[in-house]
Amino acid sequence: MPVQKKANVTELHTARHDSSEKARSGMDKILVRGGSRLNGTIAVSGAKNAALPLMCAAILSDEPLQLRNMPLSLNDIKTLTAVLNELGVVSGTPEDHTLMLHAPAITCHKAPYDLVRKMRASVLVLGPLLARTGQADVSLPGGCAIGTRPVDLHIDGLRAMGADISIEGGYIKASAPQGLKGAEINFPKVSVGATENLMMAATLAAGETILSNAAREPEIVDLGECLIAMGAQIEGLGSPVIRIRGVEKLHAATHHVVPDRIETGTWMIAVCLTGGTLRLQKTRLEHLSALIGPLKEAGLKIEHEGDDVIVSRNGRPLRGTDIMTEPYPGFPTDLQAQFMTMLTLCVGAGMVTETIFENRFMHVPELNRMGADIRVQGNSAIIRGVPDLVGAEVMATDLRASASLILAALVAQGETTINRIYHLDRGYENIVEKLQSCGADIERVANI
Ligand code: EPZ
Repeated sequence: MPVQKKANVTELHTARHDSSEKARSGMDKILVRGGSRLNGTIAVSGAKNAALPLMCAAILSDEPLQLRNMPLSLNDIKTLTAVLNELGVVSGTPEDHTLMLHAPAITCHKAPYDLVRKMRASVLVLGPLLARTGQADVSLPGGCAIGTRPVDLHIDGLRAMGADISIEGGYIKASAPQGLKGAEINFPKVSVGATENLMMAATLAAGETILSNAAREPEIVDLGECLIAMGAQIEGLGSPVIRIRGVEKLHAATHHVVPDRIETGTWMIAVCLTGGTLRLQKTRLEHLSALIGPLKEAGLKIEHEGDDVIVSRNGRPLRGTDIMTEPYPGFPTDLQAQFMTMLTLCVGAGMVTETIFENRFMHVPELNRMGADIRVQGNSAIIRGVPDLVGAEVMATDLRASASLILAALVAQGETTINRIYHLDRGYENIVEKLQSCGADIERVANI
Protein backbone atom coordinates (compact mmCIF):
# COMPACT_ATOMS: atom_id res chain seq x y z
CA MET A 1 0.00 0.00 0.00
CA PRO A 2 1.81 3.18 -1.07
CA VAL A 3 2.47 5.46 1.90
CA GLN A 4 0.20 8.47 1.52
CA LYS A 5 2.23 11.68 1.86
CA LYS A 6 0.86 13.35 4.97
CA ALA A 7 0.22 17.03 4.35
CA ASN A 8 1.90 18.82 7.25
CA VAL A 9 0.14 21.50 9.24
CA THR A 10 1.66 24.32 7.18
CA GLU A 11 0.50 22.81 3.92
CA LEU A 12 -3.00 22.25 5.29
CA HIS A 13 -3.14 25.83 6.59
CA THR A 14 -1.87 27.17 3.25
CA ALA A 15 -4.35 25.09 1.30
CA ARG A 16 -7.21 26.23 3.53
CA HIS A 17 -6.03 29.86 3.26
CA ASP A 18 -5.75 29.64 -0.54
CA SER A 19 -9.20 28.15 -0.95
CA SER A 20 -10.79 30.66 1.40
CA GLU A 21 -8.87 33.42 -0.38
CA LYS A 22 -10.24 32.17 -3.69
CA ALA A 23 -13.68 31.77 -2.21
CA ARG A 24 -13.59 35.31 -0.82
CA SER A 25 -12.30 36.88 -4.02
CA GLY A 26 -14.74 34.76 -5.99
CA MET A 27 -17.64 36.04 -3.89
CA ASP A 28 -16.50 39.68 -4.19
CA LYS A 29 -18.97 42.14 -5.65
CA ILE A 30 -18.69 44.98 -8.12
CA LEU A 31 -20.42 48.27 -7.36
CA VAL A 32 -21.17 50.64 -10.23
CA ARG A 33 -22.76 54.09 -10.15
CA GLY A 34 -24.10 54.75 -13.63
CA GLY A 35 -23.98 57.92 -15.72
CA SER A 36 -20.29 58.55 -16.42
CA ARG A 37 -19.08 58.85 -19.98
CA LEU A 38 -16.07 56.74 -20.94
CA ASN A 39 -13.06 58.76 -22.09
CA GLY A 40 -9.55 57.38 -22.29
CA THR A 41 -7.30 54.64 -23.62
CA ILE A 42 -7.56 50.89 -23.12
CA ALA A 43 -4.84 48.43 -24.13
CA VAL A 44 -6.67 45.29 -25.23
CA SER A 45 -5.31 42.06 -23.72
CA GLY A 46 -4.30 38.92 -25.58
CA ALA A 47 -7.26 36.67 -26.39
CA LYS A 48 -8.25 34.18 -23.67
CA ASN A 49 -9.69 31.84 -26.31
CA ALA A 50 -6.39 31.82 -28.19
CA ALA A 51 -4.16 31.60 -25.10
CA LEU A 52 -5.83 28.45 -23.76
CA PRO A 53 -5.30 26.19 -26.81
CA LEU A 54 -1.84 27.73 -27.35
CA MET A 55 -0.85 26.60 -23.84
CA CYS A 56 -1.99 23.05 -24.65
CA ALA A 57 0.20 23.09 -27.77
CA ALA A 58 3.25 23.07 -25.46
CA ILE A 59 2.51 19.38 -24.76
CA LEU A 60 3.30 18.53 -28.40
CA SER A 61 7.03 19.24 -28.14
CA ASP A 62 9.92 18.40 -25.77
CA GLU A 63 11.31 21.87 -26.48
CA PRO A 64 10.11 25.12 -24.86
CA LEU A 65 7.23 27.26 -26.12
CA GLN A 66 7.32 30.97 -25.26
CA LEU A 67 3.96 32.74 -25.40
CA ARG A 68 3.86 36.57 -25.42
CA ASN A 69 0.95 39.02 -24.96
CA MET A 70 -0.64 36.48 -22.61
CA PRO A 71 -3.60 37.56 -20.39
CA LEU A 72 -1.80 36.11 -17.37
CA SER A 73 -4.09 37.46 -14.66
CA LEU A 74 -7.10 35.49 -15.88
CA ASN A 75 -8.20 32.65 -13.60
CA ASP A 76 -8.66 30.36 -16.62
CA ILE A 77 -4.96 30.79 -17.49
CA LYS A 78 -3.96 29.97 -13.90
CA THR A 79 -6.24 26.90 -13.82
CA LEU A 80 -4.89 25.56 -17.13
CA THR A 81 -1.32 26.15 -15.96
CA ALA A 82 -2.11 23.92 -12.96
CA VAL A 83 -3.53 21.22 -15.28
CA LEU A 84 -0.38 21.35 -17.45
CA ASN A 85 1.89 21.21 -14.40
CA GLU A 86 0.09 18.01 -13.33
CA LEU A 87 1.04 16.49 -16.70
CA GLY A 88 4.73 17.39 -16.33
CA VAL A 89 4.73 20.64 -18.27
CA VAL A 90 7.08 23.06 -16.53
CA SER A 91 5.87 26.68 -16.50
CA GLY A 92 8.37 29.51 -16.14
CA THR A 93 7.66 32.47 -13.86
CA PRO A 94 5.04 34.47 -15.72
CA GLU A 95 6.24 38.03 -16.28
CA ASP A 96 5.35 40.96 -18.47
CA HIS A 97 2.57 39.05 -20.23
CA THR A 98 5.02 36.28 -21.20
CA LEU A 99 4.67 32.62 -20.22
CA MET A 100 7.30 29.95 -20.94
CA LEU A 101 6.01 26.36 -21.07
CA HIS A 102 8.32 23.36 -21.43
CA ALA A 103 7.39 19.65 -21.53
CA PRO A 104 10.71 17.72 -21.67
CA ALA A 105 8.74 14.63 -20.64
CA ILE A 106 5.08 13.91 -19.95
CA THR A 107 5.05 12.37 -16.46
CA CYS A 108 1.28 11.97 -16.07
CA HIS A 109 -1.52 11.43 -18.57
CA LYS A 110 -4.46 12.34 -16.33
CA ALA A 111 -6.35 15.66 -16.40
CA PRO A 112 -8.34 15.41 -13.15
CA TYR A 113 -12.04 16.19 -12.74
CA ASP A 114 -11.57 18.85 -10.06
CA LEU A 115 -9.48 20.94 -12.46
CA VAL A 116 -11.25 20.16 -15.74
CA ARG A 117 -14.72 20.95 -14.31
CA LYS A 118 -13.44 24.42 -13.34
CA MET A 119 -12.11 25.12 -16.80
CA ARG A 120 -13.75 23.22 -19.66
CA ALA A 121 -11.05 24.13 -22.18
CA SER A 122 -8.77 21.70 -20.29
CA VAL A 123 -10.26 19.10 -22.64
CA LEU A 124 -7.86 20.59 -25.21
CA VAL A 125 -5.03 18.58 -23.61
CA LEU A 126 -6.65 15.42 -25.01
CA GLY A 127 -5.42 15.67 -28.61
CA PRO A 128 -1.89 16.83 -27.75
CA LEU A 129 -1.47 14.11 -25.05
CA LEU A 130 -2.56 11.41 -27.48
CA ALA A 131 -0.31 12.74 -30.24
CA ARG A 132 2.76 13.09 -27.99
CA THR A 133 2.44 9.94 -25.84
CA GLY A 134 -0.33 7.73 -27.28
CA GLN A 135 -2.22 7.88 -24.00
CA ALA A 136 -4.69 10.26 -22.27
CA ASP A 137 -7.10 10.10 -19.34
CA VAL A 138 -9.10 13.33 -19.39
CA SER A 139 -12.20 14.06 -17.34
CA LEU A 140 -15.31 14.83 -19.35
CA PRO A 141 -15.60 18.61 -18.89
CA GLY A 142 -19.28 18.56 -18.07
CA GLY A 143 -21.66 21.32 -18.95
CA CYS A 144 -21.78 24.89 -17.81
CA ALA A 145 -24.43 27.59 -17.42
CA ILE A 146 -24.76 28.23 -21.16
CA GLY A 147 -25.14 24.66 -22.34
CA THR A 148 -24.38 20.95 -22.05
CA ARG A 149 -21.15 21.49 -23.97
CA PRO A 150 -20.67 17.91 -25.33
CA VAL A 151 -17.29 16.80 -26.72
CA ASP A 152 -18.54 14.06 -29.06
CA LEU A 153 -16.97 15.76 -32.10
CA HIS A 154 -13.56 15.73 -30.37
CA ILE A 155 -13.91 12.02 -29.57
CA ASP A 156 -15.29 10.98 -32.97
CA GLY A 157 -12.42 12.77 -34.73
CA LEU A 158 -9.73 11.14 -32.59
CA ARG A 159 -11.32 7.72 -33.14
CA ALA A 160 -11.16 8.41 -36.90
CA MET A 161 -7.43 9.01 -36.38
CA GLY A 162 -7.04 5.55 -34.85
CA ALA A 163 -7.43 6.23 -31.13
CA ASP A 164 -9.22 3.69 -28.91
CA ILE A 165 -11.52 5.77 -26.69
CA SER A 166 -13.92 4.67 -23.95
CA ILE A 167 -15.86 6.72 -21.42
CA GLU A 168 -15.43 5.27 -17.94
CA GLY A 169 -16.44 6.90 -14.68
CA GLY A 170 -16.75 10.35 -16.22
CA TYR A 171 -13.32 10.13 -17.85
CA ILE A 172 -12.30 9.96 -21.52
CA LYS A 173 -9.83 7.06 -21.54
CA ALA A 174 -7.92 7.21 -24.81
CA SER A 175 -4.97 5.31 -26.24
CA ALA A 176 -3.18 5.13 -29.56
CA PRO A 177 -0.26 2.72 -28.97
CA GLN A 178 0.62 2.67 -32.68
CA GLY A 179 0.40 6.45 -32.84
CA LEU A 180 -2.34 8.49 -34.57
CA LYS A 181 -2.80 8.33 -38.32
CA GLY A 182 -4.08 11.01 -40.68
CA ALA A 183 -7.80 10.91 -41.53
CA GLU A 184 -10.45 12.82 -43.47
CA ILE A 185 -12.82 14.34 -40.87
CA ASN A 186 -16.00 16.18 -41.87
CA PHE A 187 -17.51 17.97 -38.87
CA PRO A 188 -21.34 17.72 -38.83
CA LYS A 189 -21.35 21.12 -37.11
CA VAL A 190 -18.70 23.81 -36.69
CA SER A 191 -16.82 23.38 -33.42
CA VAL A 192 -13.97 25.63 -32.27
CA GLY A 193 -12.68 23.19 -29.64
CA ALA A 194 -12.95 20.09 -31.81
CA THR A 195 -11.09 21.86 -34.65
CA GLU A 196 -8.35 22.87 -32.19
CA ASN A 197 -8.02 19.43 -30.55
CA LEU A 198 -7.84 17.60 -33.87
CA MET A 199 -5.56 20.13 -35.55
CA MET A 200 -3.06 19.75 -32.69
CA ALA A 201 -3.36 15.94 -32.73
CA ALA A 202 -2.85 15.82 -36.51
CA THR A 203 0.49 17.68 -36.39
CA LEU A 204 2.23 14.49 -35.18
CA ALA A 205 -0.04 11.89 -36.87
CA ALA A 206 1.27 9.68 -39.68
CA GLY A 207 0.13 11.09 -43.03
CA GLU A 208 -2.35 13.83 -43.92
CA THR A 209 -5.44 14.90 -42.00
CA ILE A 210 -8.18 16.95 -43.69
CA LEU A 211 -10.61 18.82 -41.42
CA SER A 212 -13.74 19.84 -43.37
CA ASN A 213 -16.38 22.25 -42.04
CA ALA A 214 -13.59 23.39 -39.70
CA ALA A 215 -13.97 26.47 -37.48
CA ARG A 216 -12.50 29.67 -38.98
CA GLU A 217 -12.17 31.85 -35.84
CA PRO A 218 -9.08 34.11 -35.56
CA GLU A 219 -8.10 32.04 -32.50
CA ILE A 220 -7.90 28.93 -34.74
CA VAL A 221 -5.66 30.81 -37.19
CA ASP A 222 -3.52 32.01 -34.27
CA LEU A 223 -3.10 28.45 -32.96
CA GLY A 224 -2.27 27.17 -36.45
CA GLU A 225 0.35 29.87 -36.97
CA CYS A 226 1.97 28.94 -33.67
CA LEU A 227 2.01 25.24 -34.63
CA ILE A 228 3.61 26.15 -37.99
CA ALA A 229 6.26 28.13 -36.08
CA MET A 230 6.88 24.92 -34.10
CA GLY A 231 7.45 23.03 -37.39
CA ALA A 232 3.94 21.76 -38.20
CA GLN A 233 2.76 21.60 -41.82
CA ILE A 234 -0.71 23.20 -42.03
CA GLU A 235 -2.64 24.78 -44.90
CA GLY A 236 -6.10 26.37 -45.14
CA LEU A 237 -6.15 28.21 -41.79
CA GLY A 238 -9.20 30.49 -41.65
CA SER A 239 -10.97 28.49 -44.38
CA PRO A 240 -13.50 25.69 -43.86
CA VAL A 241 -10.92 23.07 -44.99
CA ILE A 242 -7.69 22.70 -43.01
CA ARG A 243 -5.01 20.23 -44.22
CA ILE A 244 -2.36 19.03 -41.77
CA ARG A 245 0.57 16.82 -42.83
CA GLY A 246 2.05 15.04 -39.80
CA VAL A 247 5.74 15.46 -38.92
CA GLU A 248 8.11 13.48 -36.67
CA LYS A 249 8.44 16.13 -33.98
CA LEU A 250 7.85 19.79 -33.23
CA HIS A 251 10.51 22.22 -31.94
CA ALA A 252 10.82 25.35 -29.81
CA ALA A 253 9.00 28.51 -30.84
CA THR A 254 7.95 31.96 -29.65
CA HIS A 255 4.43 33.20 -30.39
CA HIS A 256 2.58 36.48 -29.82
CA VAL A 257 -1.07 35.86 -28.82
CA VAL A 258 -3.70 37.52 -31.03
CA PRO A 259 -5.62 40.44 -29.41
CA ASP A 260 -8.96 39.63 -27.75
CA ARG A 261 -11.70 40.51 -30.25
CA ILE A 262 -14.42 39.85 -27.65
CA GLU A 263 -12.85 42.31 -25.20
CA THR A 264 -12.52 44.83 -28.07
CA GLY A 265 -16.20 44.40 -29.00
CA THR A 266 -17.20 44.77 -25.36
CA TRP A 267 -15.53 48.21 -25.14
CA MET A 268 -17.05 49.32 -28.46
CA ILE A 269 -20.52 48.47 -27.15
CA ALA A 270 -19.72 50.16 -23.82
CA VAL A 271 -19.02 53.51 -25.49
CA CYS A 272 -22.23 53.18 -27.55
CA LEU A 273 -24.06 53.13 -24.24
CA THR A 274 -22.14 55.68 -22.17
CA GLY A 275 -21.00 58.17 -24.79
CA GLY A 276 -17.48 59.59 -24.74
CA THR A 277 -14.45 58.49 -26.77
CA LEU A 278 -12.28 55.39 -26.25
CA ARG A 279 -8.92 54.74 -27.87
CA LEU A 280 -8.42 50.97 -28.15
CA GLN A 281 -4.79 49.91 -28.49
CA LYS A 282 -3.19 46.64 -29.66
CA THR A 283 -6.36 45.33 -31.31
CA ARG A 284 -7.33 44.13 -34.80
CA LEU A 285 -10.68 45.42 -36.03
CA GLU A 286 -10.69 43.07 -39.03
CA HIS A 287 -11.61 40.29 -36.59
CA LEU A 288 -14.90 42.03 -35.78
CA SER A 289 -16.39 42.54 -39.25
CA ALA A 290 -19.75 41.04 -38.21
CA LEU A 291 -20.06 43.43 -35.27
CA ILE A 292 -19.03 46.67 -37.00
CA GLY A 293 -22.04 46.82 -39.34
CA PRO A 294 -24.70 46.48 -36.60
CA LEU A 295 -22.76 48.86 -34.30
CA LYS A 296 -22.48 51.55 -36.99
CA GLU A 297 -26.19 51.06 -37.74
CA ALA A 298 -26.94 51.50 -34.03
CA GLY A 299 -24.88 54.69 -33.80
CA LEU A 300 -21.16 54.03 -33.31
CA LYS A 301 -18.46 56.10 -35.03
CA ILE A 302 -15.18 54.24 -35.74
CA GLU A 303 -11.87 55.90 -36.69
CA HIS A 304 -8.31 54.59 -37.09
CA GLU A 305 -5.09 56.28 -35.99
CA GLY A 306 -2.09 54.03 -36.78
CA ASP A 307 -2.69 50.74 -34.92
CA ASP A 308 -5.23 52.39 -32.62
CA VAL A 309 -9.00 52.27 -33.09
CA ILE A 310 -10.98 55.25 -31.84
CA VAL A 311 -14.68 54.73 -31.08
CA SER A 312 -17.37 57.22 -30.07
CA ARG A 313 -21.10 57.83 -30.47
CA ASN A 314 -22.13 59.53 -33.74
CA GLY A 315 -24.48 61.86 -31.91
CA ARG A 316 -27.69 60.29 -33.16
CA PRO A 317 -29.98 58.28 -30.82
CA LEU A 318 -29.16 54.55 -30.65
CA ARG A 319 -31.27 52.62 -33.15
CA GLY A 320 -32.45 49.04 -32.73
CA THR A 321 -31.16 46.36 -35.12
CA ASP A 322 -31.41 42.56 -35.40
CA ILE A 323 -28.52 40.12 -34.93
CA MET A 324 -28.13 36.34 -35.17
CA THR A 325 -25.10 34.57 -33.74
CA GLU A 326 -23.17 32.27 -36.10
CA PRO A 327 -19.73 30.65 -36.35
CA TYR A 328 -17.00 33.06 -37.54
CA PRO A 329 -17.11 35.22 -39.61
CA GLY A 330 -20.74 35.59 -38.42
CA PHE A 331 -21.80 37.57 -35.36
CA PRO A 332 -19.89 36.11 -32.36
CA THR A 333 -22.00 34.39 -29.70
CA ASP A 334 -19.55 35.74 -27.09
CA LEU A 335 -20.78 39.27 -27.83
CA GLN A 336 -24.50 38.44 -27.90
CA ALA A 337 -25.20 39.38 -24.28
CA GLN A 338 -23.25 42.64 -24.50
CA PHE A 339 -25.03 43.66 -27.72
CA MET A 340 -28.40 42.87 -26.14
CA THR A 341 -27.63 45.31 -23.31
CA MET A 342 -27.13 48.03 -25.92
CA LEU A 343 -30.44 47.17 -27.60
CA THR A 344 -32.31 47.73 -24.30
CA LEU A 345 -31.80 51.50 -24.70
CA CYS A 346 -32.27 51.77 -28.46
CA VAL A 347 -35.11 53.68 -30.15
CA GLY A 348 -37.44 51.01 -31.54
CA ALA A 349 -36.83 47.30 -31.11
CA GLY A 350 -34.27 44.65 -31.99
CA MET A 351 -34.22 40.87 -32.17
CA VAL A 352 -31.39 38.63 -30.99
CA THR A 353 -31.24 35.02 -32.18
CA GLU A 354 -28.74 32.66 -30.50
CA THR A 355 -27.87 29.70 -32.72
CA ILE A 356 -24.70 28.38 -31.04
CA PHE A 357 -25.63 27.59 -27.42
CA GLU A 358 -28.94 26.34 -26.06
CA ASN A 359 -29.08 28.41 -22.87
CA ARG A 360 -27.34 31.71 -23.42
CA PHE A 361 -30.09 34.13 -22.34
CA MET A 362 -29.54 34.06 -18.57
CA HIS A 363 -28.66 37.75 -18.59
CA VAL A 364 -32.25 38.51 -19.72
CA PRO A 365 -34.01 38.27 -16.31
CA GLU A 366 -31.19 40.29 -14.72
CA LEU A 367 -31.46 43.03 -17.36
CA ASN A 368 -35.24 43.05 -16.98
CA ARG A 369 -34.74 43.61 -13.24
CA MET A 370 -32.91 46.80 -14.26
CA GLY A 371 -35.93 47.97 -16.25
CA ALA A 372 -35.25 46.46 -19.67
CA ASP A 373 -38.13 45.13 -21.78
CA ILE A 374 -36.92 41.80 -23.18
CA ARG A 375 -39.07 38.81 -24.08
CA VAL A 376 -37.56 35.41 -24.91
CA GLN A 377 -39.25 33.13 -27.43
CA GLY A 378 -37.25 29.93 -28.01
CA ASN A 379 -33.76 30.87 -29.17
CA SER A 380 -34.78 34.44 -29.96
CA ALA A 381 -35.29 37.48 -27.76
CA ILE A 382 -37.24 40.61 -28.65
CA ILE A 383 -35.83 43.75 -27.06
CA ARG A 384 -38.01 46.87 -26.98
CA GLY A 385 -36.03 50.02 -26.18
CA VAL A 386 -36.79 51.81 -22.88
CA PRO A 387 -35.76 55.38 -21.94
CA ASP A 388 -33.59 54.32 -18.98
CA LEU A 389 -32.22 51.39 -17.02
CA VAL A 390 -32.27 51.63 -13.22
CA GLY A 391 -29.54 50.28 -10.94
CA ALA A 392 -30.35 47.10 -8.97
CA GLU A 393 -28.74 44.14 -7.20
CA VAL A 394 -28.03 41.57 -9.94
CA MET A 395 -26.22 38.24 -10.25
CA ALA A 396 -23.65 37.20 -12.81
CA THR A 397 -24.35 33.76 -14.26
CA ASP A 398 -21.61 33.22 -16.84
CA LEU A 399 -18.63 35.08 -18.22
CA ARG A 400 -20.19 37.12 -21.01
CA ALA A 401 -23.51 37.66 -19.17
CA SER A 402 -21.39 39.26 -16.41
CA ALA A 403 -19.96 41.71 -18.94
CA SER A 404 -23.45 42.59 -20.19
CA LEU A 405 -24.48 43.47 -16.62
CA ILE A 406 -21.41 45.69 -16.16
CA LEU A 407 -22.33 47.54 -19.37
CA ALA A 408 -25.92 48.00 -18.18
CA ALA A 409 -24.71 49.27 -14.80
CA LEU A 410 -22.41 51.83 -16.45
CA VAL A 411 -25.42 53.56 -18.01
CA ALA A 412 -28.18 52.80 -15.46
CA GLN A 413 -29.54 55.43 -13.10
CA GLY A 414 -28.19 54.95 -9.59
CA GLU A 415 -26.14 52.13 -8.12
CA THR A 416 -25.87 48.51 -9.29
CA THR A 417 -24.33 45.67 -7.30
CA ILE A 418 -23.12 42.71 -9.34
CA ASN A 419 -22.68 39.47 -7.38
CA ARG A 420 -20.70 36.29 -8.21
CA ILE A 421 -18.08 38.16 -10.22
CA TYR A 422 -15.72 35.17 -10.21
CA HIS A 423 -17.24 34.59 -13.65
CA LEU A 424 -15.73 37.89 -14.81
CA ASP A 425 -12.29 37.08 -13.41
CA ARG A 426 -12.12 34.07 -15.71
CA GLY A 427 -12.17 36.09 -18.91
CA TYR A 428 -11.66 39.84 -18.51
CA GLU A 429 -8.22 41.04 -17.42
CA ASN A 430 -8.37 43.99 -14.96
CA ILE A 431 -11.84 45.05 -16.12
CA VAL A 432 -12.46 47.30 -13.09
CA GLU A 433 -9.08 49.06 -13.43
CA LYS A 434 -9.50 49.53 -17.18
CA LEU A 435 -12.94 51.10 -16.73
CA GLN A 436 -11.82 53.24 -13.75
CA SER A 437 -9.00 54.63 -15.91
CA CYS A 438 -11.63 55.82 -18.42
CA GLY A 439 -13.79 57.59 -15.86
CA ALA A 440 -16.28 54.90 -14.84
CA ASP A 441 -17.53 55.04 -11.25
CA ILE A 442 -16.87 51.36 -10.55
CA GLU A 443 -15.21 49.50 -7.69
CA ARG A 444 -14.66 45.96 -6.47
CA VAL A 445 -15.93 45.29 -2.96
CA ALA A 446 -14.64 42.37 -0.94
CA ASN A 447 -17.50 40.23 0.28
CA ILE A 448 -16.93 40.37 4.03
C1 EPZ B 1 -15.29 28.06 -27.81
O1 EPZ B 1 -16.00 27.12 -27.03
C2 EPZ B 1 -15.06 29.26 -26.90
N1 EPZ B 1 -14.25 28.86 -25.74
C3 EPZ B 1 -16.40 29.82 -26.43
O2 EPZ B 1 -16.14 30.97 -25.63
C4 EPZ B 1 -17.20 30.24 -27.67
O3 EPZ B 1 -18.46 30.72 -27.27
C5 EPZ B 1 -17.37 29.03 -28.60
O4 EPZ B 1 -16.07 28.49 -28.94
C6 EPZ B 1 -18.09 29.39 -29.90
O5 EPZ B 1 -17.38 30.40 -30.55
C7 EPZ B 1 -12.92 28.73 -25.89
O6 EPZ B 1 -12.37 28.93 -26.96
C8 EPZ B 1 -12.14 28.34 -24.67
P1 EPZ B 1 -17.77 24.95 -29.89
P2 EPZ B 1 -16.20 25.60 -27.60
O7 EPZ B 1 -17.12 23.62 -29.79
O8 EPZ B 1 -14.99 25.20 -28.37
C9 EPZ B 1 -21.55 22.09 -29.91
C10 EPZ B 1 -16.32 32.37 -23.76
O9 EPZ B 1 -17.25 33.01 -23.26
N2 EPZ B 1 -20.57 21.00 -29.80
O10 EPZ B 1 -17.49 25.81 -31.09
O11 EPZ B 1 -16.63 24.76 -26.47
C11 EPZ B 1 -21.59 22.96 -28.66
O12 EPZ B 1 -22.46 22.39 -27.70
C12 EPZ B 1 -16.56 30.96 -24.25
O13 EPZ B 1 -15.14 32.81 -23.91
C13 EPZ B 1 -21.02 19.69 -29.93
O14 EPZ B 1 -22.22 19.43 -30.12
O15 EPZ B 1 -17.42 25.82 -28.59
C14 EPZ B 1 -22.09 24.27 -29.18
O16 EPZ B 1 -23.51 24.21 -29.30
C15 EPZ B 1 -18.00 30.52 -24.05
N3 EPZ B 1 -20.11 18.68 -29.83
C16 EPZ B 1 -21.50 24.36 -30.58
O17 EPZ B 1 -21.13 23.01 -30.93
C17 EPZ B 1 -18.78 18.91 -29.63
O18 EPZ B 1 -17.99 17.95 -29.56
C18 EPZ B 1 -20.26 25.22 -30.68
O19 EPZ B 1 -19.35 24.76 -29.70
C19 EPZ B 1 -18.33 20.25 -29.50
C20 EPZ B 1 -19.25 21.28 -29.59
